[in-house]
Amino acid sequence: MKIHHVGVAVEDLEAAIELYTTKFGAELTHRASNDELDAAFLSAGDAEVELLRPRHEDSAVGKFLARRGPGLHHIAIAVPDIDRAIADARAEGLEMIDEEPRMGLHGTRIAFVHPKSVGGVLTEFVEA
Ligand code: CO
Repeated sequence: MKIHHVGVAVEDLEAAIELYTTKFGAELTHRASNDELDAAFLSAGDAEVELLRPRHEDSAVGKFLARRGPGLHHIAIAVPDIDRAIADARAEGLEMIDEEPRMGLHGTRIAFVHPKSVGGVLTEFVEA
């Protein structure tokens, strides 16, 4: 198993970038946005930190922030073949949020596993 990145929900994206770059020496590698959120990716050794700021309160991350506050949102596992990873997870009885892969902000195919299937941790497969 290889951790691809850790997703962290934040209220202030610029403050979070500042924290990770100045306090921990992480490097900002890229930014991306979609209708739901603004994201920043920072290199952290072999993995990355994905900072997520919701654009609306009714987005998935917006609801998470309202309910839980800022903090760890998900972990992402690198998989070589996401179709296979989804099929294997379903065969093992895990509930997928995404039954089909979709494009993630990294520009690679992703799919989320329901946290109730993974010990309460929202888990993302990233094809990488
Ligand atoms: Co992610």
